[in-house]
Amino acid sequence: MLEKIRETAAFIRNKIQTVPNIAIILGTGLGELVREIDDKKDIPYESIPNFPVSTVEGHFGKLIFGKFGDKDVVVMQGRFHYYEGYSMQEVTFPVRVFQALGIKYLFVSNAAGGMNSSFDIGDIMLIDDHINTFPEHPLRGRNYKELGPRFPDMSDAYSRELRLLAMQIARENNIKLQHGVYVGTQGPTFETPAEYNWFRIIGGDAVGMSTVPEIIVANHAKMQALAFSIITDLGVEGKIVEVTHEDVQEAARIAQPKMACIMREVIKRIE
Ligand code: HPA
Repeated sequence: MLEKIRETAAFIRNKIQTVPNIAIILGTGLGELVREIDDKKDIPYESIPNFPVSTVEGHFGKLIFGKFGDKDVVVMQGRFHYYEGYSMQEVTFPVRVFQALGIKYLFVSNAAGGMNSSFDIGDIMLIDDHINTFPEHPLRGRNYKELGPRFPDMSDAYSRELRLLAMQIARENNIKLQHGVYVGTQGPTFETPAEYNWFRIIGGDAVGMSTVPEIIVANHAKMQALAFSIITDLGVEGKIVEVTHEDVQEAARIAQPKMACIMREVIKRIE
């Protein structure tokens, strides 16, 4: 595993001029943020040794290096989901490569179903914390001390400092920003009404099929993480309607400029 991570990081280092310390993982329907990146250099996943290849519609599958918010960043356009059949080590492999490249900040976005009755479709939720219901854990098995501790702390999994900054920026730009707890679940089914209700009862505000594995590995790697959910459908009693992948993509696409604005301004103000 360490050897693979090193090999992939070396391959990437060879392809780029400057190595960033900020990484962004884009969720379903949120790929348009890459239009705001200057001096782009793309590396398709297929060409990267040891990288899994993304299979889901709406995910393009490349690393994009460039400038965003005046800083060097690397963007993952298209991520690996557990429901696609990848192991948790595969899902989080890119985050390990980011660690090897020296990434200090990880920004993550996703599309999610809202369970909080004050949420509307198109809202952005700043993730304060998460609940992990995935059946497999990315850190299960042998722990490599070089990568992080056996029992990682998760008390500030979503950096308080970055969250405060994001909230301040949302206020300054008149962007409505909800916040709450993200429940990570394996999918690929959307929830039944009873499941949405269950996730609400256990303390969730939104539910989705990603993010939790990457955030766990980022914390293991001592990165500071910040994540946003775009609320693309509602799991609130009385408001539950049929939901399709296309609805999710469309709602995310509409909300994405606001999320990009917050991310860009946060990035400008770090370091
Ligand atoms: N549930 C799980 N994942 C999702 C949802 C949802 O309602 N919406 C977008 N991703």
